[in-house]
Amino acid sequence: MKKVNSAKYTCLEIFARQLAEGGKIRVLSGNADGSQTMVEKLAGKNYFAWLKIPLKEDTDYEITGEDCEVSLSYLSGSKDLLETGVCYLEKDQADGSFYIAGQTAWYDGSTRETYHFSPWKNWINDPNGLCWFQGYYHMFYQFNPHEQRWSNMYWGHAVSRDLVHWTHLPVVLAPQEEILENQESVKGGAFSGCAVASDEEVVFYLTRHKGPLQDGEDTVEQQWMMHSRDMIHFSEETCVIGQPPEGASFDFRDPKVLRVGDRWYMVLGSAIAGQGAILLYESADGEKWEYAHPLLVEKRVKRCFECPDFMELDGTYVATGAWMEHYDECGRYQMCRYYTGTFRDGEFAVENDGWFDFGSNCYAMQSFAHQGRRISIGWISDFYGEHVPCENGAYGSMTIPRELHVRDGKLYMMPVREIRALKGKTLYVGKGENISLTGIEGNAYRVRIGFSENTFFTILLGEDGERSISLVNEEEGLRIVTKGVKSEGICFKADVEEVRELEIYMDRRVAEVYVNGGEAVGTKVFYSGSAAGCFALDAETPENVVWAEAVGMKSIW
Ligand code: FRU
Repeated sequence: MKKVNSAKYTCLEIFARQLAEGGKIRVLSGNADGSQTMVEKLAGKNYFAWLKIPLKEDTDYEITGEDCEVSLSYLSGSKDLLETGVCYLEKDQADGSFYIAGQTAWYDGSTRETYHFSPWKNWINDPNGLCWFQGYYHMFYQFNPHEQRWSNMYWGHAVSRDLVHWTHLPVVLAPQEEILENQESVKGGAFSGCAVASDEEVVFYLTRHKGPLQDGEDTVEQQWMMHSRDMIHFSEETCVIGQPPEGASFDFRDPKVLRVGDRWYMVLGSAIAGQGAILLYESADGEKWEYAHPLLVEKRVKRCFECPDFMELDGTYVATGAWMEHYDECGRYQMCRYYTGTFRDGEFAVENDGWFDFGSNCYAMQSFAHQGRRISIGWISDFYGEHVPCENGAYGSMTIPRELHVRDGKLYMMPVREIRALKGKTLYVGKGENISLTGIEGNAYRVRIGFSENTFFTILLGEDGERSISLVNEEEGLRIVTKGVKSEGICFKADVEEVRELEIYMDRRVAEVYVNGGEAVGTKVFYSGSAAGCFALDAETPENVVWAEAVGMKSIW
């Protein structure tokens, strides 16, 4: 049997489901007098129960499961948890005992991002509760700790000192008990939400969803609030908005709160009379909320405007949001849109709008402000079903945190400067010629290119047999082109007049392309079975390349 030494940890958290009546987790420790202490906890009957078993520090334990299945388990409860993070355990297949896993083990596969955040394993979607608090950036996220697919929602949690390296923390929120117990007929959980950080505490607003398996009039979405003073312990939640306003859809979620002058505002994703809408609420104290009116109605969206955000940026106001169940004219599904304009007396007058990300694999982005910067993170989604599951893999990840700006009413975004710390080996430096790099170790790299004028080119970003991903600039403009995969034929087109600068990030299954200093950004997943990467610039007039540089990118794990 394997042993687990608890070191500085004081709690075992384990998600366990019965495979047979009485299935349980057993924790054994030896005492000084030779006797043994045994703790047993029943696993959930039809669902993964979240068991928390106290441990003594620096003690050897034998942890086993009897007639039960475990989806995720880790040690927590150390005094310096924000620094050390949790310690993941895995099950020895031979004897069923748990052991301390190599904490970076699952990040080594050829389709696993090395510098984009993804959970230790299983499903992730929207970033939630983004904020900076007492020295750490916090990222919560929509999480299914049990499988590589969306299901009833938990909140996962990670912290970072630099927005680049992340430390995994314990799961924070779970679906309502009644949902877990009745999963055949009810679904829901802790849906997306935001954080408002002050010096002493963080206030969270989130949606609790409960409803039938098919969303409809019986679906209930309410807005809840909770607090934390140390980001390890979280208060009970209280309901602050119990139902949608008259005329709004049952889709009524994803609160994002901001302060303008002496008022608090909350934006919520919804629809009114079959048109996507961002609803605006107001409050004097952040607790009692009153519906004001729609901030924005988008008739191109029928179902719901999900995950809205609203912010003041560079002297204008910006609203962003995710277009649920919408196909654009290029065949792209579920894109995100931004709107810039003025905000006076609670009225948002839109002056300009555009796509947030032309690759359409960036969804539900959320932003927060820190020290004068507006930083946004999006969920790297997979709406074309291109995911290739692998054992102990994760499904989904987060974009590189992007710094947002508005110039001439247009939203610009570039990776936060901290990402430069990951610069690895130089792979290429040159100009005036085409480039061909093969066998790029680890398939994680960054390429920057400057052109003297708009130049037609094809850039190969990834290839696996007949399958490929490229960036193509020709008469019709700039677009990401995939071949041999499910997204083939969809036109991932950037709304730019010309291409003068490219900054390309490849990270195994993710490509993020920043055009003209952030005028357009495209995120696209591409699964390659190959451990090595490739990059090939084939420009019609290579003499237009005024500078080019390719570097490897280091792993954040
Ligand atoms: C967007 C979304 C949100 C919701 C969450 C549930 O991806 O559908 O609207 O809160 O995911 O996981």
